[in-house]
Amino acid sequence: MNFKPGKPVVAPSILSADYTRFGEQLNDLKAHGVEWIHCDIMDGHFVPNISFGPMIVSAARRGWDGYMDAHLMTFHPDAYLKALVDAGASMVTVHQEAVPHLHRSIMAIRESGLQAGVAINPSTPVHTLEMIIQEVDLVTVMSVNPGFGGQSFIESTYAKVRQLSTLRSDLGLSFLIEIDGGVGAGNIQQLVRAGADVLVAGNSVFGAKEPGAEARRLQELADTAHIHLT
Ligand code: DX5
Ligand code: ZN
Repeated sequence: MNFKPGKPVVAPSILSADYTRFGEQLNDLKAHGVEWIHCDIMDGHFVPNISFGPMIVSAARRGWDGYMDAHLMTFHPDAYLKALVDAGASMVTVHQEAVPHLHRSIMAIRESGLQAGVAINPSTPVHTLEMIIQEVDLVTVMSVNPGFGGQSFIESTYAKVRQLSTLRSDLGLSFLIEIDGGVGAGNIQQLVRAGADVLVAGNSVFGAKEPGAEARRLQELADTAHIHLT
């Protein structure tokens, strides 16, 4: 399954899910039209937290037939690729800052048959992607310092999104622009207007009383902002 730009998509991050009711929450998202979920894998070295690995991605896949990206906040991401393919991930995203041979890592993901993404931290400039941008399906702009859900959105993200959006049209490319961290009803429309395609939302969705309904509300806000762009 591939995603191409055209319409923004809200991707709830399962980092903030309630694991005592995981299957139920996935069904609730599906019932509210969610098409994409985001899996945050943290190794306790690249980021100061440990979350989960391919085993939980595999569990998510058993309850989810939609799109699913695996965001690797880890050193040595290549070592987890086969397990993520087997787990049923649709896309694997690696951090520019975490790998010495980014081109090799991106090619390995593509050769595995999955879509490939690259993520940049808030302090990493867009121009560091110049030599890889032609090869990726998605760029994740971190709008918080990775490691934890529920942090505040960093405002300088908008400028990076606009820069990427301009670069994409100047080069005639079609990679998706994903925003990750602190996304909610208060900033989602401005992000879509800046050029974002995939809006990751952890705390704002799973922290809501009704996560599925909140995801749908965010999707409607994103759709409205997008309609007014065209
Ligand atoms: C942050 C993770 C995010 C996180 C977003 O390290 O990469 O995907 O789950 O969560 P919220 O939306 O709560 O900031
Ligand atoms: Zn993430």
